[in-house]
Amino acid sequence: MAHISSTKEIPVAGAIPKHIAIIMDGNGRWATKRFLPRVAGHVKGVEAVRGIVEACVSRGVSYLTLFAFSSENWRRPAEEVSLLMRLFVTALEKEVAKMHANNIRLKVVGDLTRFDAQLQKMIKKAETKTADNRGLTVTICANYGGRWDIVQAFNHLQEQLQAAGKAGQAINEDQLGAHLAMAYAPEPDLFIRTGGETRISNFLLWQLAYSELHFTDTFWPDFDAAALDAAILSYQARERRFGQTSAQVSKQSSRPESD
Ligand code: IPE
Ligand code: IPE
Ligand code: MG
Repeated sequence: MAHISSTKEIPVAGAIPKHIAIIMDGNGRWATKRFLPRVAGHVKGVEAVRGIVEACVSRGVSYLTLFAFSSENWRRPAEEVSLLMRLFVTALEKEVAKMHANNIRLKVVGDLTRFDAQLQKMIKKAETKTADNRGLTVTICANYGGRWDIVQAFNHLQEQLQAAGKAGQAINEDQLGAHLAMAYAPEPDLFIRTGGETRISNFLLWQLAYSELHFTDTFWPDFDAAALDAAILSYQARERRFGQTSAQVSKQSSRPESD
């Protein structure tokens, strides 16, 4: 396993979250409120992404994961879906070189087979180009669903076990976790959902097991560095107990490093 699960390792209290995962919601309502077409909200939403990526770099966050398109979003009107796809292509064309120059590693996770061949190729190219960057890792979840992720992980693990002549063997959490789409990252410390809804909408179901949750009414296009700082501050004020008592946690966090 690349990372010890956050559910097993208690991060230092008050630290900047290593991994922030965001459901960027409220683009449509942001636009409607201004008597604009929903597309205007999505365009503004891309600008907000740029601002939050920069803010995460300057604050020393290591992983930023953004829910851009869910497995359920195909249910939207065809024009909105195709517009979102076009926006995705344009954003890749415009941003990848800049990201690379800033040492950002880009990953796109989800069932990419449903995207057209050109988009799939662009994604591969962008990932390869930025693969060795060691600054912020930005993950875009596209045609992603938490249930899809768990099922695909299970199927890949089964294939592996079968090849090793161990088909049907009972599996454990670490084995399954190693096949999840984001096995390269620790689990999110902080989950943010903008746009006022207080639901998970089939985002990272497995990985959010012990994340701190932050919900804000701010629509995604208005979510700026100050709003991110407010979310981080709220995170820093919390005590992550992972099942232990408060007394146990404070004893551990006051222990010297060498202990
Ligand atoms: C989030 O904003 C963007 C995507 C889901 C692609 P919405 O488009 O869901 O905006 P609202 O929720 O309708 O305001
Ligand atoms: C969740 O937003 C998915 C993304 C932000 C990509 P939705 O707006 O699609 O979520 P629901 O359907 O209202 O729960
Ligand atoms: Mg929405």
